[in-house]
Amino acid sequence: MRILFASSEVHPFSKTGGLADMVGALAKAAARAGHEVGVVSPLYRGIRERFPAVRRVEWHLELPLGGQRVGGELWAFSPESRLTFYFVGQPGFFDRNGLYNERGVDYGDNAERFFFFSKAVVHLARYLPLQPEILHVNDWQTGVVPLLVRHQQQVEAWSTVPAVVFTIHNLAYQGWFAPQKFELLNVSPAFWSDVEHHGGLNCMKVGIALADVLTTVSPRYAREVLTPEYGEGLDWLLRQRQARFFGILNGVDYDEWKTTDNPHLKYPYSIRNLSGKARNKAALQEELGLPVRPNAPLFATISRLTEQKGISIELAALEEMLHSDIQFVLLGSGEPHFERAFLELAARFPQKAAVRLGYDTPLSHRIEAGSDFYLMPSKFEPCGLNQMFSLRYGTIPIVRAVGGLADTVVDAAENPTCPTGIKFHSFSAAALVKAMRKALAIFADPNLLMFYRRNGMRMDFSWERTVREYEAVYSKAKEHG
Ligand code: ADP
Ligand code: GLC
Repeated sequence: MRILFASSEVHPFSKTGGLADMVGALAKAAARAGHEVGVVSPLYRGIRERFPAVRRVEWHLELPLGGQRVGGELWAFSPESRLTFYFVGQPGFFDRNGLYNERGVDYGDNAERFFFFSKAVVHLARYLPLQPEILHVNDWQTGVVPLLVRHQQQVEAWSTVPAVVFTIHNLAYQGWFAPQKFELLNVSPAFWSDVEHHGGLNCMKVGIALADVLTTVSPRYAREVLTPEYGEGLDWLLRQRQARFFGILNGVDYDEWKTTDNPHLKYPYSIRNLSGKARNKAALQEELGLPVRPNAPLFATISRLTEQKGISIELAALEEMLHSDIQFVLLGSGEPHFERAFLELAARFPQKAAVRLGYDTPLSHRIEAGSDFYLMPSKFEPCGLNQMFSLRYGTIPIVRAVGGLADTVVDAAENPTCPTGIKFHSFSAAALVKAMRKALAIFADPNLLMFYRRNGMRMDFSWERTVREYEAVYSKAKEHG
């Protein structure tokens, strides 16, 4: 098939979270499975410097945006056969320090930025030699694409119009804008009812309402969002579209997330020989300024610091658990009050807790490799990637049983013959503390610890398998498109 992906972030070029990982890895896996693949994302600051092979394409974009016409450039890079990354350059919109915000404040012109980007995506779907059969868009930033495709079909003959697949990575971020922003779309007023939500313009709603097929990133989250508890005010619409809504679990890019031949890890290890893991732990403890103690169980979290990730219950649970003989490391950034709370915690328990604020991929590999347990007590979690990275790294995940966390981690209560982690249910510090105490019991029994680690390391969430599930969805989209 000929597939064009569009996303506001794509690993390894731009990333704030798992969306980038997912799109980058799925595109690569689809190309390797024999499909012709293009990926469109914005040309953010620094991409050209970090990837000198990204080259300008002779192509002049000029698109209407409300009363104006906005020009843009096209850049491209083809790392392997059948796979081309396209970058939409618009320095006024994308040559900035952040992707969506700076110092926690959203850019005031995000509607302009991502409507322009979405228009560029449709323009490329229409005119690129690729002539995609499938246009696969992701999250609110490209939510208006299905609408723009319909508009384009109305205003001109478009014989090769692609079927549009819309993937929801996180229903909590919907792209809400003032109703006046509707005019930026330059479409018929008849479309207002598709975008309108409580009087405003809701990009996530448009995507859900108008895409040919919808997906989300785990089967469990696909069921959860049909309920008011997890539906973020859009569960009614998702229920209406249920027959064309599928949950497909994300995979892991094991070319990068591996314990051997990994440039970020000093000591390689494998399921057969885990001794390197102990050395990585000692190196990590040393790096973080914690006492180098093999017998202290080391818990870790690498995360955006937001309420979604259960940071409030984690802080409360650590408050209690740090009185036991444990160590804890956090790598993260996000809401300032959470950042402050972790710094205070580390100041009060300097021998036990280390906190690194910021974004650091090499360090994230060292933490995954050097830790014993990984904490992910999310309030909701569409898929989640770090619990899967942890499994591969022999680091036992402790997760709340929601979304993709429920789908990827096996608790002894579910399957005593092959447990891979610890699950808890209630969203409370007490439930997390109980789960951490179970972890201490596992840590105290070397055979049990090894049993869990090996079970986890054997789990296979590779994209090669997942790509087949997307192929099936693409075929459905083409039937319905
Ligand atoms: P989400 O997309 O909701 O943030 P995911 O678990 O899907 O959650 O993906 C998060 C991705 O971002 C993972 O690849 C994770 O390792 C990475 N990540 C998050 N915070 C940091 C950080 N501070 N430093 C390095 N990587 C991070
Ligand atoms: C979102 C979700 C996360 C998911 C990621 C990739 O950011 O919060 O759970 O893993 O998208 O699909």
